[in-house]
Amino acid sequence: MIDDRLNSILNFVEKNSRVADIGTDHGYLAIELAKKNICHFIIASDKNFGPVQAAKKNISDAGFEKIISVRQGDGLKVLKKNEVDTICIAGMGGGLICKILDDSPNILLTTENLILQPMNSVEKIYAWIAENNFFVADVDLAEAGGIIYEIIFAVRNSDKICRPTKKEKSPLLRKFLEQRLEKFQHVIFEMSKSPSAVSTEKFSQIENKIADLKIKIDQL
Ligand SMILES: C[S@@+](CC[C@H](N)C(=O)[O-])C[C@H]1O[C@@H](n2cnc3c(N)ncnc32)[C@H](O)[C@@H]1O
Repeated sequence: MIDDRLNSILNFVEKNSRVADIGTDHGYLAIELAKKNICHFIIASDKNFGPVQAAKKNISDAGFEKIISVRQGDGLKVLKKNEVDTICIAGMGGGLICKILDDSPNILLTTENLILQPMNSVEKIYAWIAENNFFVADVDLAEAGGIIYEIIFAVRNSDKICRPTKKEKSPLLRKFLEQRLEKFQHVIFEMSKSPSAVSTEKFSQIENKIADLKIKIDQL
């Protein structure tokens, strides 16, 4: 049984797409995609030996060795051009996800869909998407360990853009905005201790974000 975060990622995977789960760890997402009959060609990869061994065992125990190929390597370097149309990268920092994408432009040329779930620095992911000819088609929210994460579905084809997004309709939206507000208020509190930090552009940007978040929360 997968948790809400992995389930939200899975819900963005189109039926019969060829998928790579980069940084698969235990292989649970790949296994669930096979179990639910969503995909028949899945590559589950990880940079590290331990996770690759764990994924191989779980996939073999579930009987999906023929559908899921497990590979060890860094990011998208385990893939060949045009091998998959959808790439999932979840459970890593936003900076690392952007680096993985930046390191393999040739693979992205033949990638239609990206499903990205950063554990932090989500703004880096939105900036990367805007700078690399993808569109944000949809966004969802999912809670794990008391923290609400964004799951971003980015596409090459702008026809797939959904509005309102799942995030905008999510019952978690208020809590998500309140968590962000609290985080930024804490940053402002800490920065306020230093007069030089208060006069920085970053300080005013965070103040603006706080004002925007308060308006959004009031409008709910
Ligand atoms: C916290 S786990 C996330 C597992 C799963 N994707 C999830 O969301 O539940 C992160 C995994 O990414 C792997 N990883 C880190 N850097 C990587 C890279 N450059 N390429 C592939 N895998 C990487 C780690 O070994 C680890 O297994």
